[in-house]
Amino acid sequence: MQKILVLDFGGQYNQLIARRVREQHIYAEIKPYNIITVEEIKAAGYRGVIFTGGPNSVYDPASPHYDPAILDAGIPILGICYGCQLIASMAGGRVASAEDSSEYGKIELHTTENRLFTDVPATSVCWMSHRDYIPEAPKGFTAIASTDRCPVAAMCDESRRIYGVQFHPEVTHTVCGKQILHNFLYDVCGCDGDWQMDSFIEDTVRELRSQIGDQGVVLGLSGGVDSSVAAALLSKAVGKQLTCVFVDQGLMRKDEGDYVERTFNHLFDMNFIRVNCRDEFLEKLRGLTDPEDKRNVIGTEFYNVFWNKIRESFGSGFFAQGTIYPDRIESGKGDASKIKTHHNQVGIPKDIHFAGVIEPLKDLFKDEVRAVGEKLGLPHDLVWRQPFPGPGLGVRVIGEVTAARVRILQEADAILRDEMDKCGYADQMSQFFAVLPGVKTVGVMGDERTYSELVAIRAVTTDDFMTADWAKIPYDILGRVSNRIINEVDQVNRVVYDITSKPPGTVEWE
Ligand code: XMP
Repeated sequence: MQKILVLDFGGQYNQLIARRVREQHIYAEIKPYNIITVEEIKAAGYRGVIFTGGPNSVYDPASPHYDPAILDAGIPILGICYGCQLIASMAGGRVASAEDSSEYGKIELHTTENRLFTDVPATSVCWMSHRDYIPEAPKGFTAIASTDRCPVAAMCDESRRIYGVQFHPEVTHTVCGKQILHNFLYDVCGCDGDWQMDSFIEDTVRELRSQIGDQGVVLGLSGGVDSSVAAALLSKAVGKQLTCVFVDQGLMRKDEGDYVERTFNHLFDMNFIRVNCRDEFLEKLRGLTDPEDKRNVIGTEFYNVFWNKIRESFGSGFFAQGTIYPDRIESGKGDASKIKTHHNQVGIPKDIHFAGVIEPLKDLFKDEVRAVGEKLGLPHDLVWRQPFPGPGLGVRVIGEVTAARVRILQEADAILRDEMDKCGYADQMSQFFAVLPGVKTVGVMGDERTYSELVAIRAVTTDDFMTADWAKIPYDILGRVSNRIINEVDQVNRVVYDITSKPPGTVEWE
Protein backbone atom coordinates (compact mmCIF):
# COMPACT_ATOMS: atom_id res chain seq x y z
CA MET A 1 0.00 0.00 0.00
CA GLN A 2 1.27 3.44 -0.94
CA LYS A 3 1.49 5.88 1.93
CA ILE A 4 2.13 9.50 2.71
CA LEU A 5 3.68 10.82 5.91
CA VAL A 6 2.16 13.90 7.52
CA LEU A 7 5.05 15.23 9.59
CA ASP A 8 3.45 17.12 12.43
CA PHE A 9 4.98 20.41 13.59
CA GLY A 10 2.11 21.20 15.95
CA GLY A 11 -0.36 22.69 13.50
CA GLN A 12 -4.05 22.74 14.29
CA TYR A 13 -4.97 21.12 10.97
CA ASN A 14 -2.71 18.06 11.07
CA GLN A 15 -5.56 15.54 11.24
CA LEU A 16 -7.43 17.41 8.56
CA ILE A 17 -4.43 17.15 6.23
CA ALA A 18 -4.29 13.38 6.70
CA ARG A 19 -8.04 13.09 6.14
CA ARG A 20 -7.80 15.13 2.94
CA VAL A 21 -5.08 12.81 1.65
CA ARG A 22 -7.16 9.75 2.49
CA GLU A 23 -10.19 11.27 0.78
CA GLN A 24 -8.08 11.07 -2.35
CA HIS A 25 -7.67 7.34 -1.68
CA ILE A 26 -4.09 7.46 -0.47
CA TYR A 27 -3.20 6.21 2.97
CA ALA A 28 -1.69 8.90 5.21
CA GLU A 29 -0.31 8.66 8.69
CA ILE A 30 0.64 11.41 11.11
CA LYS A 31 3.86 11.40 13.10
CA PRO A 32 5.29 14.10 15.34
CA TYR A 33 8.47 15.54 13.82
CA ASN A 34 10.48 14.60 16.90
CA ILE A 35 9.90 10.85 16.85
CA ILE A 36 10.99 9.93 13.34
CA THR A 37 14.36 10.36 11.65
CA VAL A 38 15.14 10.87 7.97
CA GLU A 39 16.57 7.33 7.81
CA GLU A 40 13.35 5.93 9.27
CA ILE A 41 11.27 7.92 6.77
CA LYS A 42 13.36 6.53 3.93
CA ALA A 43 13.14 2.97 5.25
CA ALA A 44 9.37 3.18 5.66
CA GLY A 45 8.94 3.74 1.93
CA TYR A 46 6.71 6.82 2.04
CA ARG A 47 5.71 8.13 -1.38
CA GLY A 48 5.79 11.69 -0.09
CA VAL A 49 6.00 13.79 3.05
CA ILE A 50 3.78 16.71 4.01
CA PHE A 51 5.13 19.16 6.59
CA THR A 52 2.21 20.58 8.59
CA GLY A 53 1.77 24.12 9.80
CA GLY A 54 2.66 25.09 13.35
CA PRO A 55 2.23 27.99 15.75
CA ASN A 56 5.91 28.97 15.92
CA SER A 57 8.36 31.20 14.03
CA VAL A 58 11.18 29.31 12.32
CA TYR A 59 13.76 31.91 13.33
CA ASP A 60 12.95 31.22 16.99
CA PRO A 61 15.65 28.71 18.05
CA ALA A 62 13.13 26.94 20.29
CA SER A 63 10.73 26.25 17.42
CA PRO A 64 10.42 22.74 15.93
CA HIS A 65 13.16 22.08 13.38
CA TYR A 66 14.01 19.06 11.29
CA ASP A 67 17.07 17.42 9.85
CA PRO A 68 17.80 19.26 6.53
CA ALA A 69 18.95 15.90 5.09
CA ILE A 70 15.26 15.30 4.39
CA LEU A 71 15.56 17.74 1.46
CA ASP A 72 18.03 15.40 -0.22
CA ALA A 73 16.30 12.15 0.66
CA GLY A 74 14.79 11.84 -2.82
CA ILE A 75 11.24 11.88 -1.42
CA PRO A 76 8.72 14.49 -2.63
CA ILE A 77 7.85 17.08 0.04
CA LEU A 78 5.00 19.52 0.39
CA GLY A 79 5.36 22.11 3.16
CA ILE A 80 2.23 23.88 4.36
CA CYS A 81 2.39 27.29 6.11
CA TYR A 82 5.00 26.80 8.88
CA GLY A 83 6.12 23.73 6.92
CA CYS A 84 6.79 25.93 3.88
CA GLN A 85 8.74 28.43 5.97
CA LEU A 86 10.71 25.58 7.49
CA ILE A 87 11.70 24.37 4.02
CA ALA A 88 12.79 27.93 3.12
CA SER A 89 14.84 28.15 6.29
CA MET A 90 16.41 24.68 5.83
CA ALA A 91 17.33 25.63 2.26
CA GLY A 92 19.22 28.67 3.56
CA GLY A 93 16.51 31.19 2.72
CA ARG A 94 15.03 34.00 4.77
CA VAL A 95 11.78 34.06 6.74
CA ALA A 96 10.71 37.41 8.09
CA SER A 97 7.95 39.00 10.09
CA ALA A 98 6.25 42.20 9.08
CA GLU A 99 2.96 43.65 10.22
CA ASP A 100 1.86 44.46 6.67
CA SER A 101 2.70 40.98 5.33
CA SER A 102 0.53 38.97 7.68
CA GLU A 103 -2.67 37.58 6.20
CA TYR A 104 -5.69 35.96 7.74
CA GLY A 105 -8.76 34.60 5.99
CA LYS A 106 -9.75 34.31 2.35
CA ILE A 107 -7.11 35.86 0.11
CA GLU A 108 -6.77 36.11 -3.65
CA LEU A 109 -4.02 33.83 -4.92
CA HIS A 110 -2.16 34.25 -8.20
CA THR A 111 -0.51 31.10 -9.50
CA THR A 112 1.92 30.50 -12.34
CA GLU A 113 2.10 27.48 -14.60
CA ASN A 114 3.42 24.57 -12.59
CA ARG A 115 2.58 20.88 -12.12
CA LEU A 116 1.36 21.69 -8.59
CA PHE A 117 -1.23 23.98 -10.15
CA THR A 118 -2.48 21.81 -13.03
CA ASP A 119 -6.19 22.63 -13.50
CA VAL A 120 -5.96 25.53 -11.03
CA PRO A 121 -6.99 28.91 -12.47
CA ALA A 122 -4.40 31.71 -12.54
CA THR A 123 -6.42 33.54 -9.89
CA SER A 124 -8.38 31.80 -7.13
CA VAL A 125 -9.17 32.14 -3.43
CA CYS A 126 -7.04 30.54 -0.74
CA TRP A 127 -7.09 30.44 3.04
CA MET A 128 -4.20 32.18 4.78
CA SER A 129 -3.28 32.32 8.44
CA HIS A 130 0.25 33.62 8.94
CA ARG A 131 2.29 36.41 10.45
CA ASP A 132 5.73 35.40 9.13
CA TYR A 133 6.39 35.30 5.41
CA ILE A 134 9.06 34.35 2.88
CA PRO A 135 10.36 37.54 1.19
CA GLU A 136 12.10 35.69 -1.64
CA ALA A 137 12.47 32.09 -2.74
CA PRO A 138 15.65 30.47 -1.36
CA LYS A 139 18.47 29.37 -3.64
CA GLY A 140 17.40 26.51 -5.91
CA PHE A 141 13.71 27.38 -5.47
CA THR A 142 11.32 29.36 -7.65
CA ALA A 143 8.34 31.39 -6.46
CA ILE A 144 5.26 29.91 -8.18
CA ALA A 145 2.41 31.84 -6.55
CA SER A 146 1.85 35.17 -4.86
CA THR A 147 -0.78 37.29 -3.17
CA ASP A 148 -0.90 41.07 -2.83
CA ARG A 149 0.99 40.91 0.45
CA CYS A 150 2.99 37.76 0.01
CA PRO A 151 5.59 37.53 -2.78
CA VAL A 152 6.16 33.81 -2.17
CA ALA A 153 2.74 32.26 -1.55
CA ALA A 154 4.12 29.03 -3.05
CA MET A 155 7.56 27.87 -4.18
CA CYS A 156 9.23 24.77 -5.55
CA ASP A 157 12.46 23.07 -6.38
CA GLU A 158 11.30 20.88 -9.28
CA SER A 159 14.53 18.92 -9.49
CA ARG A 160 14.18 17.66 -5.92
CA ARG A 161 10.34 17.54 -6.07
CA ILE A 162 10.08 19.88 -3.06
CA TYR A 163 7.07 22.21 -2.83
CA GLY A 164 5.86 24.70 -0.27
CA VAL A 165 2.62 26.63 0.05
CA GLN A 166 2.06 29.48 2.48
CA PHE A 167 -1.72 28.93 2.37
CA HIS A 168 -3.75 25.98 3.63
CA PRO A 169 -4.87 23.65 0.80
CA GLU A 170 -6.54 21.32 3.33
CA VAL A 171 -9.12 23.93 4.37
CA THR A 172 -12.25 24.04 2.21
CA HIS A 173 -12.03 27.85 1.90
CA THR A 174 -9.04 27.25 -0.39
CA VAL A 175 -11.17 26.74 -3.44
CA CYS A 176 -8.63 24.68 -5.39
CA GLY A 177 -7.04 23.05 -2.33
CA LYS A 178 -8.29 19.60 -3.26
CA GLN A 179 -6.89 19.91 -6.78
CA ILE A 180 -3.53 21.13 -5.48
CA LEU A 181 -3.27 18.19 -3.08
CA HIS A 182 -4.35 15.87 -5.89
CA ASN A 183 -1.58 17.24 -8.13
CA PHE A 184 1.01 16.74 -5.43
CA LEU A 185 -0.15 13.24 -4.53
CA TYR A 186 -0.83 11.81 -7.97
CA ASP A 187 1.52 13.75 -10.24
CA VAL A 188 4.47 14.66 -8.03
CA CYS A 189 4.44 11.61 -5.71
CA GLY A 190 3.14 9.18 -8.33
CA CYS A 191 0.44 7.66 -6.13
CA ASP A 192 -2.42 5.87 -7.82
CA GLY A 193 -5.14 5.76 -5.18
CA ASP A 194 -4.96 2.28 -3.74
CA TRP A 195 -6.56 3.15 -0.36
CA GLN A 196 -10.13 1.90 -0.77
CA MET A 197 -12.54 0.78 1.92
CA ASP A 198 -13.41 -2.40 0.03
CA SER A 199 -9.82 -3.51 -0.01
CA PHE A 200 -9.39 -2.38 3.60
CA ILE A 201 -12.20 -4.75 4.59
CA GLU A 202 -10.79 -7.63 2.55
CA ASP A 203 -7.25 -7.16 3.87
CA THR A 204 -8.37 -6.71 7.47
CA VAL A 205 -10.61 -9.76 7.40
CA ARG A 206 -7.73 -11.84 6.03
CA GLU A 207 -5.33 -10.50 8.68
CA LEU A 208 -7.85 -11.04 11.49
CA ARG A 209 -8.41 -14.65 10.40
CA SER A 210 -4.74 -15.38 10.34
CA GLN A 211 -4.10 -13.63 13.67
CA ILE A 212 -7.04 -15.18 15.53
CA GLY A 213 -6.76 -18.67 14.04
CA ASP A 214 -9.24 -20.90 15.84
CA GLN A 215 -9.16 -18.97 19.10
CA GLY A 216 -11.95 -16.88 20.58
CA VAL A 217 -12.18 -13.10 20.65
CA VAL A 218 -14.23 -10.93 22.99
CA LEU A 219 -15.36 -7.36 22.38
CA GLY A 220 -17.16 -4.86 24.59
CA LEU A 221 -20.04 -3.49 22.55
CA SER A 222 -21.47 -0.15 23.61
CA GLY A 223 -23.83 0.37 20.70
CA GLY A 224 -21.70 3.32 19.57
CA VAL A 225 -20.31 3.59 16.05
CA ASP A 226 -16.75 2.41 16.72
CA SER A 227 -17.46 -0.73 18.72
CA SER A 228 -20.35 -1.63 16.39
CA VAL A 229 -18.19 -1.43 13.28
CA ALA A 230 -15.40 -3.36 15.02
CA ALA A 231 -17.96 -6.05 15.91
CA ALA A 232 -19.26 -6.24 12.34
CA LEU A 233 -15.74 -6.58 10.96
CA LEU A 234 -14.77 -9.27 13.46
CA SER A 235 -18.00 -11.11 12.83
CA LYS A 236 -17.24 -11.18 9.11
CA ALA A 237 -13.76 -12.50 9.87
CA VAL A 238 -14.41 -15.15 12.50
CA GLY A 239 -18.21 -15.43 12.99
CA LYS A 240 -19.12 -17.41 16.09
CA GLN A 241 -15.59 -17.25 17.48
CA LEU A 242 -16.55 -13.65 18.39
CA THR A 243 -18.34 -12.92 21.65
CA CYS A 244 -19.74 -9.44 22.15
CA VAL A 245 -20.59 -8.32 25.65
CA PHE A 246 -23.14 -5.53 25.78
CA VAL A 247 -23.68 -4.04 29.24
CA ASP A 248 -27.11 -2.42 29.39
CA GLN A 249 -27.00 -0.26 32.50
CA GLY A 250 -30.50 1.08 31.86
CA LEU A 251 -29.15 4.54 31.06
CA MET A 252 -29.46 4.35 27.30
CA ARG A 253 -32.03 6.11 25.20
CA LYS A 254 -35.54 4.69 24.92
CA ASP A 255 -35.54 1.15 23.45
CA GLU A 256 -31.87 1.44 22.52
CA GLY A 257 -30.76 -1.70 24.33
CA ASP A 258 -33.36 -3.78 22.44
CA TYR A 259 -32.36 -2.15 19.17
CA VAL A 260 -28.68 -3.02 19.65
CA GLU A 261 -29.52 -6.59 20.61
CA ARG A 262 -31.85 -7.04 17.64
CA THR A 263 -29.36 -5.57 15.20
CA PHE A 264 -26.47 -7.77 16.22
CA ASN A 265 -28.47 -10.93 16.74
CA HIS A 266 -30.22 -10.69 13.40
CA LEU A 267 -27.62 -9.20 11.11
CA PHE A 268 -24.40 -10.75 12.30
CA ASP A 269 -22.98 -14.12 13.12
CA MET A 270 -21.56 -13.96 16.66
CA ASN A 271 -22.30 -14.77 20.29
CA PHE A 272 -24.12 -11.78 21.68
CA ILE A 273 -24.35 -11.44 25.44
CA ARG A 274 -26.53 -8.71 26.88
CA VAL A 275 -26.05 -8.01 30.56
CA ASN A 276 -29.11 -6.25 31.96
CA CYS A 277 -28.07 -4.52 35.13
CA ARG A 278 -30.25 -1.44 35.37
CA ASP A 279 -31.35 -2.15 38.94
CA GLU A 280 -27.79 -2.68 40.18
CA PHE A 281 -26.70 0.61 38.63
CA LEU A 282 -29.65 2.50 40.06
CA GLU A 283 -28.94 1.04 43.46
CA LYS A 284 -25.33 2.25 43.31
CA LEU A 285 -26.51 5.67 42.15
CA ARG A 286 -29.08 6.07 44.89
CA GLY A 287 -28.68 9.35 46.77
CA LEU A 288 -25.82 10.59 44.58
CA THR A 289 -26.11 14.09 43.14
CA ASP A 290 -22.55 15.21 42.47
CA PRO A 291 -21.74 14.80 38.73
CA GLU A 292 -18.25 13.45 39.33
CA ASP A 293 -19.46 10.96 41.95
CA LYS A 294 -22.10 9.76 39.50
CA ARG A 295 -19.58 9.40 36.67
CA ASN A 296 -17.18 7.49 38.93
CA VAL A 297 -19.84 5.11 40.16
CA ILE A 298 -21.14 4.43 36.65
CA GLY A 299 -17.59 3.92 35.32
CA THR A 300 -16.55 1.61 38.15
CA GLU A 301 -19.77 -0.38 38.06
CA PHE A 302 -19.47 -0.79 34.29
CA TYR A 303 -15.90 -2.01 34.64
CA ASN A 304 -16.86 -4.56 37.30
CA VAL A 305 -19.93 -5.90 35.49
CA PHE A 306 -18.14 -6.12 32.15
CA TRP A 307 -15.08 -7.95 33.41
CA ASN A 308 -17.09 -10.25 35.69
CA LYS A 309 -19.09 -11.33 32.68
CA ILE A 310 -15.90 -12.04 30.78
CA ARG A 311 -14.43 -14.01 33.68
CA GLU A 312 -17.63 -16.03 33.78
CA SER A 313 -18.27 -16.65 30.11
CA PHE A 314 -15.06 -16.38 28.13
CA GLY A 315 -12.42 -19.07 28.02
CA SER A 316 -9.31 -17.85 26.27
CA GLY A 317 -8.29 -15.88 23.24
CA PHE A 318 -8.09 -12.25 22.22
CA PHE A 319 -9.56 -9.01 23.49
CA ALA A 320 -10.80 -6.58 20.83
CA GLN A 321 -11.69 -2.91 21.09
CA GLY A 322 -12.92 -0.17 18.78
CA THR A 323 -9.97 2.21 19.09
CA ILE A 324 -9.79 4.52 16.07
CA TYR A 325 -6.92 6.57 14.65
CA PRO A 326 -7.66 9.93 16.32
CA ASP A 327 -7.63 8.13 19.69
CA ARG A 328 -3.99 7.27 19.10
CA ILE A 329 -2.56 10.32 17.41
CA GLU A 330 0.06 12.15 19.35
CA SER A 331 0.74 15.76 18.53
CA GLY A 332 4.04 17.35 17.59
CA LYS A 333 3.22 20.11 20.07
CA GLY A 334 4.16 18.37 23.25
CA ASP A 335 6.07 15.53 24.75
CA ALA A 336 6.01 12.79 22.15
CA SER A 337 6.44 10.04 24.70
CA LYS A 338 3.12 10.90 26.32
CA ILE A 339 0.40 8.61 24.99
CA LYS A 340 -3.12 9.93 25.04
CA THR A 341 -5.58 7.87 27.08
CA HIS A 342 -9.07 7.60 25.73
CA HIS A 343 -12.42 6.15 26.62
CA ASN A 344 -12.20 3.75 23.66
CA GLN A 345 -9.25 2.03 25.29
CA VAL A 346 -10.19 -0.06 28.27
CA GLY A 347 -7.85 -1.19 31.05
CA ILE A 348 -7.66 -4.97 31.41
CA PRO A 349 -7.69 -6.38 34.97
CA LYS A 350 -4.45 -8.10 35.95
CA ASP A 351 -6.04 -11.50 36.57
CA ILE A 352 -7.41 -11.77 33.02
CA HIS A 353 -4.93 -12.93 30.43
CA PHE A 354 -5.52 -12.56 26.71
CA ALA A 355 -3.51 -13.88 23.81
CA GLY A 356 -3.38 -10.27 22.58
CA VAL A 357 -5.34 -7.10 21.98
CA ILE A 358 -6.95 -6.54 18.59
CA GLU A 359 -7.86 -3.07 17.33
CA PRO A 360 -9.15 -3.55 13.77
CA LEU A 361 -10.05 0.13 13.28
CA LYS A 362 -6.92 1.62 14.78
CA ASP A 363 -5.81 3.24 11.52
CA LEU A 364 -9.16 4.71 10.47
CA PHE A 365 -10.65 8.15 10.83
CA LYS A 366 -14.29 8.39 11.91
CA ASP A 367 -15.61 8.98 8.39
CA GLU A 368 -13.73 5.88 7.22
CA VAL A 369 -15.13 3.86 10.13
CA ARG A 370 -18.62 4.90 9.00
CA ALA A 371 -17.88 3.97 5.38
CA VAL A 372 -16.70 0.52 6.51
CA GLY A 373 -19.83 0.16 8.69
CA GLU A 374 -22.11 0.91 5.77
CA LYS A 375 -20.27 -1.52 3.52
CA LEU A 376 -20.61 -4.22 6.17
CA GLY A 377 -24.38 -3.71 6.26
CA LEU A 378 -24.83 -1.91 9.58
CA PRO A 379 -28.07 0.10 9.64
CA HIS A 380 -27.72 3.74 8.58
CA ASP A 381 -28.91 5.17 11.91
CA LEU A 382 -26.35 3.12 13.82
CA VAL A 383 -23.51 4.15 11.53
CA TRP A 384 -24.51 7.82 11.79
CA ARG A 385 -25.34 7.67 15.46
CA GLN A 386 -24.63 10.84 17.39
CA PRO A 387 -22.04 10.77 20.16
CA PHE A 388 -23.49 9.51 23.40
CA PRO A 389 -21.64 9.90 26.69
CA GLY A 390 -20.32 6.76 28.36
CA PRO A 391 -22.35 7.47 31.54
CA GLY A 392 -25.43 7.78 29.31
CA LEU A 393 -28.55 9.41 30.68
CA GLY A 394 -26.88 9.32 34.09
CA VAL A 395 -25.40 12.73 33.22
CA ARG A 396 -28.57 14.04 31.57
CA VAL A 397 -30.75 13.34 34.58
CA ILE A 398 -29.32 16.15 36.67
CA GLY A 399 -29.11 15.33 40.36
CA GLU A 400 -30.25 11.96 41.66
CA VAL A 401 -30.85 9.26 39.04
CA THR A 402 -33.99 7.22 39.71
CA ALA A 403 -35.92 4.79 37.50
CA ALA A 404 -38.86 7.20 37.29
CA ARG A 405 -36.70 10.18 36.28
CA VAL A 406 -34.80 8.13 33.67
CA ARG A 407 -38.14 7.08 32.19
CA ILE A 408 -39.38 10.69 31.96
CA LEU A 409 -36.19 11.69 30.19
CA GLN A 410 -36.29 8.72 27.81
CA GLU A 411 -39.85 9.57 26.78
CA ALA A 412 -39.09 13.26 26.23
CA ASP A 413 -35.90 12.46 24.33
CA ALA A 414 -37.72 9.94 22.09
CA ILE A 415 -40.27 12.61 21.13
CA LEU A 416 -37.51 15.08 20.33
CA ARG A 417 -35.77 12.54 18.11
CA ASP A 418 -38.97 11.56 16.40
CA GLU A 419 -39.82 15.18 15.53
CA MET A 420 -36.28 15.91 14.35
CA ASP A 421 -36.33 12.86 12.11
CA LYS A 422 -39.74 13.75 10.69
CA CYS A 423 -38.80 17.30 9.76
CA GLY A 424 -35.48 16.24 8.27
CA TYR A 425 -33.55 18.42 10.69
CA ALA A 426 -31.74 15.59 12.45
CA ASP A 427 -28.95 15.34 9.89
CA GLN A 428 -28.18 19.04 10.11
CA MET A 429 -27.24 18.88 13.75
CA SER A 430 -24.19 17.36 15.35
CA GLN A 431 -25.98 16.35 18.51
CA PHE A 432 -29.34 16.92 20.15
CA PHE A 433 -30.98 15.51 23.23
CA ALA A 434 -33.27 16.22 26.16
CA VAL A 435 -32.08 16.98 29.69
CA LEU A 436 -33.97 16.66 32.95
CA PRO A 437 -32.59 19.51 35.06
CA GLY A 438 -34.42 18.51 38.24
CA VAL A 439 -36.39 21.72 38.46
CA LYS A 440 -40.12 21.73 39.16
CA THR A 441 -42.28 24.59 37.99
CA VAL A 442 -45.90 25.64 38.39
CA GLY A 443 -48.35 25.29 35.50
CA VAL A 444 -52.01 24.81 34.70
CA MET A 445 -53.56 21.88 32.90
CA GLY A 446 -57.31 22.10 32.40
CA ASP A 447 -58.55 23.62 35.65
CA GLU A 448 -55.78 22.09 37.67
CA ARG A 449 -52.66 23.70 38.99
CA THR A 450 -49.63 21.51 38.29
CA TYR A 451 -46.20 21.42 39.87
CA SER A 452 -44.09 19.22 37.59
CA GLU A 453 -40.73 18.64 35.96
CA LEU A 454 -39.02 20.95 33.49
CA VAL A 455 -37.40 19.42 30.39
CA ALA A 456 -34.59 21.22 28.56
CA ILE A 457 -33.74 20.68 24.90
CA ARG A 458 -30.10 20.85 23.88
CA ALA A 459 -29.02 20.90 20.22
CA VAL A 460 -25.64 21.90 18.82
CA THR A 461 -23.74 22.19 15.57
CA THR A 462 -19.99 21.68 15.63
CA ASP A 463 -17.06 20.29 13.64
CA ASP A 464 -15.07 18.87 16.50
CA PHE A 465 -17.06 19.22 19.77
CA MET A 466 -14.25 21.40 21.19
CA THR A 467 -16.41 24.40 20.37
CA ALA A 468 -20.08 24.31 19.42
CA ASP A 469 -22.93 26.63 18.48
CA TRP A 470 -26.45 26.15 19.73
CA ALA A 471 -28.54 25.04 16.77
CA LYS A 472 -30.98 27.55 15.33
CA ILE A 473 -33.94 25.18 15.15
CA PRO A 474 -37.01 26.87 13.63
CA TYR A 475 -39.60 27.95 16.22
CA ASP A 476 -42.40 25.85 14.76
CA ILE A 477 -40.35 22.67 15.21
CA LEU A 478 -39.48 23.63 18.76
CA GLY A 479 -43.15 24.39 19.33
CA ARG A 480 -44.21 20.94 18.15
CA VAL A 481 -41.60 19.23 20.31
CA SER A 482 -42.68 21.22 23.34
CA ASN A 483 -46.39 20.50 22.81
CA ARG A 484 -45.85 16.82 22.38
CA ILE A 485 -43.56 16.47 25.39
CA ILE A 486 -45.99 18.31 27.65
CA ASN A 487 -49.00 16.39 26.36
CA GLU A 488 -47.46 12.96 26.12
CA VAL A 489 -44.97 12.74 28.98
CA ASP A 490 -46.48 12.37 32.36
CA GLN A 491 -45.12 14.75 35.01
CA VAL A 492 -43.67 17.32 32.62
CA ASN A 493 -45.35 20.72 32.34
CA ARG A 494 -42.67 22.98 30.83
CA VAL A 495 -40.00 22.79 28.10
CA VAL A 496 -37.12 25.23 27.59
CA TYR A 497 -34.48 25.50 24.86
CA ASP A 498 -30.79 25.85 25.76
CA ILE A 499 -29.22 28.74 23.82
CA THR A 500 -25.70 28.47 25.23
CA SER A 501 -22.71 27.98 22.96
CA LYS A 502 -19.51 26.14 23.91
CA PRO A 503 -17.59 27.88 25.34
CA PRO A 504 -18.73 29.09 27.81
CA GLY A 505 -21.16 26.17 28.16
CA THR A 506 -20.38 22.52 27.51
CA VAL A 507 -22.51 20.29 25.32
CA GLU A 508 -23.66 18.13 28.23
CA TRP A 509 -25.12 19.66 31.36
CA GLU A 510 -23.11 17.55 33.78
P1 XMP B 1 -18.90 18.37 26.53
O1 XMP B 1 -20.05 18.24 27.47
O2 XMP B 1 -17.58 18.09 27.17
O3 XMP B 1 -19.12 17.22 25.45
O4 XMP B 1 -18.91 19.68 25.77
C1 XMP B 1 -18.39 17.09 24.26
C2 XMP B 1 -18.77 15.78 23.63
O5 XMP B 1 -18.34 14.68 24.45
C3 XMP B 1 -19.45 13.89 24.86
N1 XMP B 1 -19.23 13.53 26.27
C4 XMP B 1 -18.82 12.33 26.70
N2 XMP B 1 -18.52 11.20 26.04
N3 XMP B 1 -18.02 10.12 28.09
C5 XMP B 1 -18.13 10.09 26.74
O6 XMP B 1 -17.87 9.05 26.15
C6 XMP B 1 -18.32 11.21 28.83
O7 XMP B 1 -18.22 11.21 30.04
C7 XMP B 1 -18.73 12.38 28.09
N4 XMP B 1 -19.07 13.64 28.46
C8 XMP B 1 -19.36 14.33 27.33
C9 XMP B 1 -20.67 14.77 24.68
O8 XMP B 1 -21.86 14.03 24.50
C10 XMP B 1 -20.27 15.58 23.46
O9 XMP B 1 -20.49 14.86 22.28
